[in-house]
Amino acid sequence: MAESAVVPGLEGVPATQSSISHIDGTAGLLSYRGYPIDQLVAQSTYEEVALLLLDGELPDTSALERFDTGLRSHRQVKYNVREIMKFLPVTGHPMDLLHCAVASLGMFYPQQELSDAERENVSHLDAMAMRIIARIPTIVAMWEQMRFGNDPLPTRSDLNHAANFLYMLTGREPDPLYARILDACFILHAEHTINASTFSVLVTSSTLTNPYHVIAGAIGTLAGPLHGGANQKVVEMLEEIGTPSRIAGYLDTRLSRREKIWGFGHRVYKTRDPRAAILKDMMENLASQGHLRHSHLFDIAMELERQAGERLASKGIHANVDFYSGVLYHEMGIRTDLFTPIFAMARSAGWLAHWREQLGNNRIFRPTQIYSGASARHYVPASQRSCDTA
Ligand code: COA
Repeated sequence: MAESAVVPGLEGVPATQSSISHIDGTAGLLSYRGYPIDQLVAQSTYEEVALLLLDGELPDTSALERFDTGLRSHRQVKYNVREIMKFLPVTGHPMDLLHCAVASLGMFYPQQELSDAERENVSHLDAMAMRIIARIPTIVAMWEQMRFGNDPLPTRSDLNHAANFLYMLTGREPDPLYARILDACFILHAEHTINASTFSVLVTSSTLTNPYHVIAGAIGTLAGPLHGGANQKVVEMLEEIGTPSRIAGYLDTRLSRREKIWGFGHRVYKTRDPRAAILKDMMENLASQGHLRHSHLFDIAMELERQAGERLASKGIHANVDFYSGVLYHEMGIRTDLFTPIFAMARSAGWLAHWREQLGNNRIFRPTQIYSGASARHYVPASQRSCDTA
């Protein structure tokens, strides 16, 4: 059989067949299970969207209530997980903490392997997924308290997913407006076809390992700056620029060295990322009504997008979701290194939907390679190796 060429980054190569979400990268459209993302952000909640992603249909009131009640009642993590967290360095990145804590959850729920019957039992899989979605925000908020020497706050079952997270993060009664903004951000980040972290979900799930390994692997994949880690990089970039007058020089220098502008570009969108457009509108509305802190970084971000657009839009490179989520979270006063963990919280629903889908029609991933190493040769003992053969 003739060897086909390697496709770097598997660009354009279908890795699976999926009914969970769809991107039209030319028109700049994203839908979950057929529902356009703008309609979901305007009318739905994260809880409902999570169930839509997992089950394929918008739930009726009683199914939604059951799922929501389940999320609220499974937020607490085992005391021993907190004990593990105590031994981790407070200087570590919250994504590293999250990766470690989620993997450790598997030890307390030891379904190391899913039997055939369990894999076909949709409500069993939904329950496993719901527990993970419920606990990720708790872990992130616990860490935020613990790394500054405070005791984690108890979970609040009277608050929805986003509001409970804000409460546990800050210790203050959550502002309903901020809880709603965060809920919208969760919806926007909940799913996005076969990106790097979701591809890792497919590969890990295909071995029939437990979902904690699956999600821990996805968290590790999301952490990188080319993927979810870009939202933190955006704010660090804006801080480095420091003032609007330095934007042009910054862009010139980076682009002449062929370096990336953080929060710009996308493998699939060749026009504006619809999530970025929604976030930008939302942010401008909130800022004009005085609901955001309107730091100097906000002005730099707006001007950077304009100037970067002048240089990059003709190449199909536009601001992406991480550009605007980074700026928005900063304007909401959220600490910069929590941006990517917040992305992970939201994306857990999409990841787990793909986990379920993969289990429903599984074959282990085992691609091939084109070998480019040495041809067969004889082993030479160390004492007989010259510099040439070493
Ligand atoms: N800034 C400047 N140039 C960019 C760019 C950016 N953010 N993103 C892509 N490009 C340019 C590349 O330099 C390359 O130019 P060339 O063809 O002249 O060499 C071309 O666009 C293709 O880039 P490439 O990195 O091969 O695209 P990709 O599809 O492999 O990567 C991303 C997609 C998202 C990884 C890439 O756009 C990127 O690194 N963006 C910054 C990180 C980021 O915001 N990630 C979050 C994505 S939601």
